[in-house]
Amino acid sequence: MIEVMNEPKTRTPMPAPTREPVRRVGPPPPGEQPAMLIEHATKRFVVGRKKRPVVAVNDVSMSIRRGEIYGVLGANGSGKSTLIRLISTLLTIDSGRIEVLGHDVERHEMAVKQLINRVSVDAAFFKKLSPHENLAYAARLYGLDAGPARTEAIRILARLGIAEKRLNRPLEQMSRGMQQKVAIARALLTSPTVLLLDEPTTGLDPRSKLDVQAFIEEVRDTHDATIVLTTHDLAEAERLCDRIALINDGRLVAEGTPDELKALVASQHGGEPTMDSVFMTFTGRSLDDDHDDDENHDE
Ligand SMILES: Nc1ncnc2c1ncn2[C@@H]1O[C@H](COP(=O)(O)OP(=O)(O)OP(=O)(O)O)[C@@H](O)[C@H]1O
Ligand SMILES: [Mg+2]
Repeated sequence: MIEVMNEPKTRTPMPAPTREPVRRVGPPPPGEQPAMLIEHATKRFVVGRKKRPVVAVNDVSMSIRRGEIYGVLGANGSGKSTLIRLISTLLTIDSGRIEVLGHDVERHEMAVKQLINRVSVDAAFFKKLSPHENLAYAARLYGLDAGPARTEAIRILARLGIAEKRLNRPLEQMSRGMQQKVAIARALLTSPTVLLLDEPTTGLDPRSKLDVQAFIEEVRDTHDATIVLTTHDLAEAERLCDRIALINDGRLVAEGTPDELKALVASQHGGEPTMDSVFMTFTGRSLDDDHDDDENHDE
């Protein structure tokens, strides 16, 4: 595994006085409690009629700092959503451990559930109900006052480009992108400390995508939230993420800031210093995995 997280930081401080928030944070320094600590997390599935074993998440360790936007990149089926589902307690871990702000996801499941919120492309909604009814339901579930929650929901949705008059139409009459925005609004309504965004901008038109990206940054900056984000949009990852992990066949194969990863690929693999090149370098199938899909593997 190639690690860049421990490389000494030789960067000189930014030349004075910009009001830019400090970006590109590194891993938590010793003694600081990470927002998320993942140690040797492993999750297996058996798939298909042949009950073929798949190690969806394979010995993954990460330490994510409070306030970070941490990106998880990888090819389809590499295990990103499974990892997100493990953190959000939707799946149980086979081995290893995951802590959210010091709470073990298995032993303190309820505490973890209260700290996190997950948005996924397959958001579960009551499609016959309107956005407003869905959000009111979420507000009740989380014990929020209906009045302020409604005002806040309207504000968030307006910010994402959904007009108030649309809030009373059934969700099933809205486009996928609009449903996705409602899902994001629902997650933000509860001001979660940790936000897990599984492909939050997939399926959005370019303008909506920019709206959501800007909003993700705003949430991080104004709510002191820690955000884990999966995406297939490499420009988005580069723009939003303080650090990025690359996952290949369930394994963490590289981790670092976008600049570190690009520099690493350019220096060690001779590729262009671009996120495209980073993705291609680290997510190519390795030869010793090839037999996995064959009919005739013999163990
Ligand atoms: N509930 C499940 N039962 C069986 N196998 C599963 C299940 N969920 C995921 N898998 C398998 O685990 C592996 C990782 O899937 P996962 O959905 O985590 O990938 P992903 O990186 O999110 O992919 P994508 O980019 O397409 O969203 C795949 O081989 C998938 O078939
Ligand atoms: Mg996925």
